[in-house]
Amino acid sequence: MTSRFDQPIDREGSGALKFDGRAQTFGTTEVTPMWVADMDFAVPEAVSQALQARVAHPVFGYALAPESLYQALMDWLHTQHDWHVPREWIVLTPGVVPSLNLVVAALTQPGDGVIVQPPVYFPFFSAATGQQRRLLENPLRLVNDATGQPQYQMDMDHLTVCAQQARLLLLCSPHNPVGRVWQTAELEALLGIAEAHDLIILSDEIHADLVYPDAPPHQPLSRLSAQGVADSELASSHRIITAVSPSKTFNIPGLGLSALIVPNAQHRQAIQRHLTTLGVSVTNPLNMAAFEAAYRGGHAWQRALLDYLQDTRDAAIAYIQSELPSIKAVAPQATYLLWLDCRALQLDDDALKHFFIQEAQLGLSPGAMFGHGGEGFMRMNIATPKANVMAALAQLKTALSRKDLA
Ligand SMILES: Cc1ncc(COP(=O)(O)O)c(C=O)c1O
Repeated sequence: MTSRFDQPIDREGSGALKFDGRAQTFGTTEVTPMWVADMDFAVPEAVSQALQARVAHPVFGYALAPESLYQALMDWLHTQHDWHVPREWIVLTPGVVPSLNLVVAALTQPGDGVIVQPPVYFPFFSAATGQQRRLLENPLRLVNDATGQPQYQMDMDHLTVCAQQARLLLLCSPHNPVGRVWQTAELEALLGIAEAHDLIILSDEIHADLVYPDAPPHQPLSRLSAQGVADSELASSHRIITAVSPSKTFNIPGLGLSALIVPNAQHRQAIQRHLTTLGVSVTNPLNMAAFEAAYRGGHAWQRALLDYLQDTRDAAIAYIQSELPSIKAVAPQATYLLWLDCRALQLDDDALKHFFIQEAQLGLSPGAMFGHGGEGFMRMNIATPKANVMAALAQLKTALSRKDLA
């Protein structure tokens, strides 16, 4: 049975970074692009209809987000994550990476310690180092789980040491690139450390709505931290800020609209002040239409997407296990990103990159970009028709056997 997600869409020449940026990124256009994290799928009907309706209106003046947009986000967080977010906690922002930078700027001082957990999405590093904050690395540990499968964990003992010198932790939950959905016990341990050392946590939850149906559910850190705390107490003591966005889930990252959920009024004012200083228009007529329509009308589409991605993930992992014994896939619980352990190939990072581009003709993200622990890994974006993923893996198999690396 074919799915709507099997439909190939020609993105070349549409101003798509993933396709039209290949020469610049890989030095050639002759690679299958499986790098930057967007999807080769059409957006939900509800989103395209809302955009078309807005385009049909002939005036594109300055924008003001309607209350219904905030309500759509609040309803989504409530139904999807059992998280009740009051309207006043929401600050609209022009993307999650800008949000990371904004929080660092607003709530820390030059020289303050900022913790990141590599391997992690690379803008986490620059959010700290680009603003003269002190980068503290708390590397994740790769261990085998109870079934013998590779799985990443946080190193809580080392995190405690880092926390003594830090003001802020940038958490990636679920985690890009390793695909972990952090569980309640881990998050509660994290909250305990934050409480003990007066640490603010920015929880980047952009991948929260991309958890596979067979994985444990995502737990919003902010919701966990508020359990059992009275509302009045919460407002002043809350140390968790959450970044959310419909952009990854509904394939609208090019439209650039996200939100920070900031329970602490002082934090909120500081963030707002910085946003105002920048003078950026966060909302525009098109990103508002897409944002609201996705959260309001995207439920069924999202479920179908996750079923499709899970089928692709399972087929890809089965193929890797049977046909590519020198590569190990870390099975993601969330995200459409497959984290491939290529260390057995014994190639250094330049040679590994060269092998994927020149020999396999595949444009993946080199693991080394994600910091310590990423060396020898490659990140493959599988949000494309399943046939493309399987064809890419077959290319990889041919290239490995040609090199006698299989
Ligand atoms: C963890 C994480 N945060 C943020 C982003 C990008 O967010 P935005 O496009 O809203 O800046 C990504 C994109 O891959 C991501 O993986």
